[in-house]
Amino acid sequence: MTAIAVIVAAGKGERFGDAGKVMSTIAGRPCLAWTLDAFQNADSVDGIIIVVGDHTRDAVTDLTSSGEWLKVQGIVPGGASRQYSMANGVRAVPADADVILVHDAARPLTPPALINESVRVAREHGGAILAAPITDTVKQVVDEEVSRTIDRSTLWGAQTPQTFRADMMREMAHHAFAGDIAFTDEASLAEVLGYPVRIVRSDSTNLKITHPHDIAIAEAIILTRENGR
Ligand code: CTP
Ligand code: MG
Repeated sequence: MTAIAVIVAAGKGERFGDAGKVMSTIAGRPCLAWTLDAFQNADSVDGIIIVVGDHTRDAVTDLTSSGEWLKVQGIVPGGASRQYSMANGVRAVPADADVILVHDAARPLTPPALINESVRVAREHGGAILAAPITDTVKQVVDEEVSRTIDRSTLWGAQTPQTFRADMMREMAHHAFAGDIAFTDEASLAEVLGYPVRIVRSDSTNLKITHPHDIAIAEAIILTRENGR
């Protein structure tokens, strides 16, 4: 049994305001270094493939050439959409893998135990995504006016990793390349294809660095964990 993680790092960081977002400094280390630590430390993961853009290739190659992350086995180019980047990463996964995880490089603080749990659940059920219950009350808004409140008790925010049996993820990558189904995460595509997707309960500390202030939040989370709280 072999599980390979595809870490997508080819985005342009437009909301962050810096195309080098995945290399931005969090508590003295690049965001991607934290992300790689999480997968290196997750015993269920056997290998890592990083998907880069022209703007991140050199920095990522420099970072990983330290040899610190022994599981890294490839760096491949991404594309204009996350969907294409994911698909190109999946294409580079060795044929003997039975599970493929797709993870945002911009999500540095995923606990290794939850990564392992997603692999276990994917092997058992087909697909597993990390997700956290929504904490805000959610409104449907039309023309800047609230039309209704949506029952929050069944709503979860999808995170990554999104982990699937390799045959399913390869089929998803095929559709991603074909561009016949547009999707924002792997699970949305899995739903269209009728694949089962289970939830691995996570929380808001598995944050994605999206805006500049997310760096300060990530540093606070790291500090809180170091203090054992
Ligand atoms: N990503 C990617 N290829 C793309 C777009 C996104 O590999 N064409 C990756 C990003 O590098 C990131 C993850 O997908 O690790 C989640 O995307 P997001 O947080 O939206 O990052 P960006 O697309 O870089 O940011 P923005 O949408 O603000 O431009
Ligand atoms: Mg984006």
